Amino acid sequence: AVPVITIDGPTASGKGTLASRVAQRLGYHHLDSGALYRACALAAQRAGIAPDDEPALAALAAALPLRFEGGRAWLGTPGEDVTDRLREEAIGQMASQIAALPALRAALLDWQRRCRRAPGLVTDGRDMGTVIFPDAQLKVFLTASAAQRAERRHRQLAAAGVSATLPALLADLEARDARDRSRSSAPLKAAEDARQLDNSALSIEASVEQLLRWWDD
Ligand code: CDP
Repeated sequence: AVPVITIDGPTASGKGTLASRVAQRLGYHHLDSGALYRACALAAQRAGIAPDDEPALAALAAALPLRFEGGRAWLGTPGEDVTDRLREEAIGQMASQIAALPALRAALLDWQRRCRRAPGLVTDGRDMGTVIFPDAQLKVFLTASAAQRAERRHRQLAAAGVSATLPALLADLEARDARDRSRSSAPLKAAEDARQLDNSALSIEASVEQLLRWWDD
């Protein structure tokens, strides 16, 4: 089978950065599944679909005209570059809300599995190792303390010129964690055969090296 490395974990744990660096080092494809949920949220907002209209959201997701190419996300045909819009806070909020809907998640299954192409795939999200690629050759569950994650998000936002206070970010992050862990459909949890990596005190480079060592084992 085409090799897959899954990286799951809570919000702002650094999954995306780690996945993209590891993919680069191995020459593999990278799937940021969070961006997929975010694209659904953006498309739904544009189509005027309410965040609790499960059948309409599932239909939209099943036919989502989304492509990842050249490190950018393209929505629609011929394709509009929506990369920056997907990172917006409001879109993230809506993504977190609609990601709790089982029919929407089911509609995105095939899209995600089709990303498993030679020479290999590194993917990050909440349920990559548990639901989407249960037979992945390496599964990692990435965590970091809530305080660390809030600080990282803070720096990320500051770099983008967005001001937000640490306590507000911490509260938002904890609310999102709680929603991800308690939902009935694909709750956030480590796969039984996942390796745990707490990167609270690790640099990105050190995390990349740890993953590559596991991969070589
Ligand atoms: O920035 P953050 O890590 O919160 O967001 P993300 O990874 O881009 O994902 C956006 C939202 O999609 C999250 O709040 C999750 O609830 C949801 N998601 C999911 O349910 N399953 C995935 N495989 C990926 C993301």
